[in-house]
Amino acid sequence: MGKPKVVLGVSGGIAAYKACELLRRLTESGHEVRVVPTAASLNFVGEATWAALSGNPAGTQVWETVHEVPHVRIGQGADLVVVAPATADMLAKAAHGLADDLLTNTLLTARCPVVFAPAMHTEMWEHPATQENVATLRRRGAVVIEPAVGRLTGKDTGKGRLPDPEEIYEVCRRVLARGAAGPDLAGRHVVISAGGTREPLDPVRFLGNRSSGKQGYALARTAAARGARVTLVAANTALPDPAGVDVVRVGTALQLREAVLGAAGDADAVVMAAAVADFRPAVYADGKIKKKDGQEPAPVNLVRNPDILAEISAERAREGQIVVGFAAETDDVLANGRTKLARKGCDLLVVNEVGETKTFGSEENEAVILASDGTETPVAHGPKEALADAIWDRVAARLARRTA
Ligand code: CTP
Repeated sequence: MGKPKVVLGVSGGIAAYKACELLRRLTESGHEVRVVPTAASLNFVGEATWAALSGNPAGTQVWETVHEVPHVRIGQGADLVVVAPATADMLAKAAHGLADDLLTNTLLTARCPVVFAPAMHTEMWEHPATQENVATLRRRGAVVIEPAVGRLTGKDTGKGRLPDPEEIYEVCRRVLARGAAGPDLAGRHVVISAGGTREPLDPVRFLGNRSSGKQGYALARTAAARGARVTLVAANTALPDPAGVDVVRVGTALQLREAVLGAAGDADAVVMAAAVADFRPAVYADGKIKKKDGQEPAPVNLVRNPDILAEISAERAREGQIVVGFAAETDDVLANGRTKLARKGCDLLVVNEVGETKTFGSEENEAVILASDGTETPVAHGPKEALADAIWDRVAARLARRTA
């Protein structure tokens, strides 16, 4: 098999310079890359740079080497098209099927997965015109990764930055790895909770748990690569934001509940991978609790936290919403899992055995996915992304049945 063929489309934004790094990453990892810049983008990075770094011509127009019919051939021959940066203008053209240069023609002839990495000012990104274009592209199966939040051109900061080239590369790698399976969650919105909540006792102490958030982040990364719009509600994690994902940071169970319910309104699926504290201290001390000579410490009274998974399962924000829970068990793993699935009322429950040396903080996991229809799918020990993909396979199948 030859090298996978990637078309790197570059449209006219200042972030075009970051596409040089993406190109280098793609070529170094064994991809044959053809860069197709727009004429406007050459104001930022010149044709010579693209040609030299890719080893291929990098024309912008359909009128060069016409005998090779490049406006059709490049798209037809590609295994992946990635447009980075994708400007508001490029998203609009792609959504409406305009074809006035080589890149837009290529987008119309490509039948492989297409990834857009938008970059623009926050106002342009949030404008209803852009948002509708993005929704159109996603509905048609394109992977549009959410821009990052941070410093923009000039003095502004906000949402609209091109994610790091390495992260865009990771999305491309995952999309390519799926091959013919394609982005089966395109056009879907999924909400994932990750990490572990902390319930404060005083300004310096909390009740917490050992969850690292790695499984939830793996779910977010894999869902983005399958084309979903992803909201990741992250509780106390120390992990970098996955590319193309909206991250909402929370601390306590009550904050996590508010963030999940807030995002779940239009979600096709909600996956509760976070370890949520069942109890919180009944009283929060405004100042640090001090030890007193000759006195035993005062007992800590706890009150119940709401069961978020049970709540979203009972009151689905939208008809046909798929709700997935996790069960961390130390004993009688499957029997407890089955009881928990019934009690929580979710569609799928991912049951895994936990212990001080198992699962928490590890890169790997093994689990059984229990479904409300009685099916049980064991997922062998392996990377957390493999378990994440097995979960999304089941979610995607259920969503497909819902719309069929
Ligand atoms: N969960 C939740 N809200 C809570 C507690 C847990 O939404 N207050 C969710 C978790 O995100 C997870 C699932 O419920 O998806 C199972 O959590 P687990 O701690 O295993 O179950 P518990 O309800 O705590 O049951 P038990 O105490 O019997 O183990």
